Amino acid sequence: MPEQFGHARRAQWAPLTVRSKYHSPMRPSTTDANYSYDMHRQLEQDPARYDRMPSSIVDPKSIDAWRHDRMRSAFLPFIAEWPGAKWLTIGDGRFGADAHYLLSHGADATASSLTDHTLRQSHEQGHIAEFASVNAEAIDYDDGAFDFVVCKEAYHHLPRPPIGFYEMLRVANEAVIMIEPIDHRNGGVLLKLKGLVKKVLRGDGIAEFEPDGNYLYRVRPAEIGKLLAALNYTTYAYRPFNDFYVGGLANKKASKWSLAMRCTQLGILVQNALCRSGLLGYGLASIVAFKREPSPEALAALRDADFAIRDLPRNPYLTTADEPEADS
Ligand SMILES: C[S@@+](CC[C@H](N)C(=O)[O-])C[C@H]1O[C@@H](n2cnc3c(N)ncnc32)[C@H](O)[C@@H]1O
Repeated sequence: MPEQFGHARRAQWAPLTVRSKYHSPMRPSTTDANYSYDMHRQLEQDPARYDRMPSSIVDPKSIDAWRHDRMRSAFLPFIAEWPGAKWLTIGDGRFGADAHYLLSHGADATASSLTDHTLRQSHEQGHIAEFASVNAEAIDYDDGAFDFVVCKEAYHHLPRPPIGFYEMLRVANEAVIMIEPIDHRNGGVLLKLKGLVKKVLRGDGIAEFEPDGNYLYRVRPAEIGKLLAALNYTTYAYRPFNDFYVGGLANKKASKWSLAMRCTQLGILVQNALCRSGLLGYGLASIVAFKREPSPEALAALRDADFAIRDLPRNPYLTTADEPEADS
């Protein structure tokens, strides 16, 4: 899910020393979560990879910026309905572009990623405000320290995604918002065709593992709903969408007269038409895990922004102070 960083390039990282007490340092294990942390830390600090700021910050009129900000537009109804809310971005290791988007739309945002390597540079150049190095699977903040926690295209990099999910949920007061690839394993013939088109256009197809070295953990919105139901939360929301990325078009202008822009929009339009007719599954979704039941006004604003709202089943064996106990 690149923002101009040579996505197809296979990650190169130095031999790792795993710090786990369960493995000999002579035989680094790739089944240990530390392996993923070390690998991603090295990638975040690789000067060849992060030699320039992402397009969303320095080239906002490019197609690449348009694509990423289109994804981030999922934050807008929340910024409008929860003015003054405190936001934390997770896995924002591309110079804090997610926090930059939130700040430029008036939100109070702290940027975080596994390292603060690119975040510090972005801060020094005035693109982001607060920043911190945070491991999604061990977040060093108190419960409910933020109102919203957002994670764009980083959850699928985690070695233990549900642990990351529970950590994000813990430090959020209102909701966790994730923008992630969707699991559409049983997508049928058209999914295979989509894989072929990707391979021809950008050389990477539909893969189980990414060039960064991580397993691509795709989610289903309903799975997030199940995790919430087990904790007796009431609501989740999601907005599925398609994206169209071809490296050669990324730097072109996103003006309505540009041929590159028309190709990008056509790529999205064709996928949308196939999805609406049930022949293909959407590639990505913005998924919102609520910790509190949103107000009717907030839900209406989300519906207006094309979010589907799902009420979770209520646990009949639990009562709140103002409810009568169920008969046993
Ligand atoms: C594909 S990038 C997404 C960057 C940014 N969210 C965006 O969309 O522009 C994934 C990011 O997640 C970070 N990451 C990977 N594992 C992580 C972990 N355990 N905790 C926090 N961040 C992690 C990576 O280092 C990388 O910066």
